[in-house]
Amino acid sequence: MTPGNTITVRPARRISGVVRVPGDKSISHRALILAALAEGRSEIVNLAPGDDCRATLDCLRRLGVGVSSAASPDDGNTLRWQIDGVGLSGLRPASDGLDAQNSGTTARLLMGVLAASGFSTRICGDNSLQRRPMRRVVEPLALMGAHIATTEGLLPAVVTGSPLHGIDYALPIPSAQVKSAILLAGLSASGVTIVREPIATRDHTERSLGAFGVEVEVGPGMVAVAGGQRLSAARISVPGDPSSAAFWAAAAAALPGSSIEIRDVGLNPTRIGFLRVLQRFGATVVTRESPEADVEARGTIRVSHRALGDVVVEPSEVPGLIDELPALAALATHGGRFTVTGAAELRVKESDRIAALARGLRLMGADIEEAPDGFRIEGAARLRGGAVDAGGDHRLAMAFAIAALGATGPTTITGADAISVSYPDFFDVLESMCA
Ligand code: S3P
Repeated sequence: MTPGNTITVRPARRISGVVRVPGDKSISHRALILAALAEGRSEIVNLAPGDDCRATLDCLRRLGVGVSSAASPDDGNTLRWQIDGVGLSGLRPASDGLDAQNSGTTARLLMGVLAASGFSTRICGDNSLQRRPMRRVVEPLALMGAHIATTEGLLPAVVTGSPLHGIDYALPIPSAQVKSAILLAGLSASGVTIVREPIATRDHTERSLGAFGVEVEVGPGMVAVAGGQRLSAARISVPGDPSSAAFWAAAAAALPGSSIEIRDVGLNPTRIGFLRVLQRFGATVVTRESPEADVEARGTIRVSHRALGDVVVEPSEVPGLIDELPALAALATHGGRFTVTGAAELRVKESDRIAALARGLRLMGADIEEAPDGFRIEGAARLRGGAVDAGGDHRLAMAFAIAALGATGPTTITGADAISVSYPDFFDVLESMCA
């Protein structure tokens, strides 16, 4: 099934099967960017297939990086990407500028990379990305000596490369994108760059830098990198994306009699907070880490349904499951009471996810109350289904689909093709696993 702009999801009794999810989007962006900055040819297997990582690939090509792909010799179905790194100071000006499309990670990480380049680069994005805040990245980079002109704190922005120096910076909001932009700029800065974070965010940049031969100091609540280190080419195998796996895990937790196994998925502790929440809902969750895991933990997740209870997500947990909140909200519409606070960041994702979730789930019959920094769902109300709009947001399209499985009637999701950002065959897999 190829999702057009509108797709209909019918109620399901249960979901079951064994599934692999696309490569991790966050790790893929970092692998591509660091491979571009490395010396020599890097190889990346199981790169995230969606539009977001295509945007990063396209930007890197425009910056003069050689990129090609071929079928993997180990498995003809998997693509192996080859990136011919240009070294830390080898990027070339992109005459037509860069388009980060829908991808905040592309725009923000590349700002860090380009801050020390010898040229100017204009970065733009689609309508959604052009509404997302960029000052959070521009301000710390400016403290390092960067010159970035934004459009009142938004894209389009022009990054004019300048000499940078290290800083010691405490993140005012927990954000892996901001941390990563600063660390990437730190690679070309004089001295040492230190980022401190009050609450841990995903640590893929730190881990990936290590894989490309950069020495990184990681301590409690801090990470430091010395500028001027050379990156050497690496071979990266990207695990499945836990943020995509979260939709199947939520569906299995939601529907009585369901049981699913997700194979070769990332198990990085900074990414699997949603599994603890599933357990608090009542689901049975078992993980098994693969012994071959290297830079990133990976393995199998099994989830099966048990009666749903009440769950509160505390603000301190939010950075570890921010992208999984739409999936968890979908689960909550199947039963229990779900309260989320301290998640105002949801309002500046691909859409205002608090408002859009409340609007969509309410249209389907949910009892959901919106707060400035979260929401509460009373899952006792069975959904009716109906017509909802994903608002161009991939995770909302998938969340509405998982909520729709428990409705009494069908649900029509407009804007369902937004899934191409992270999980292009989501609806085919959904169809194959539902009974
Ligand atoms: C990401 C970090 C998070 C997350 C986003 C991907 C990353 O954003 O929501 O989907 O790859 O670093 P913030 O850094 O804005 O919290």
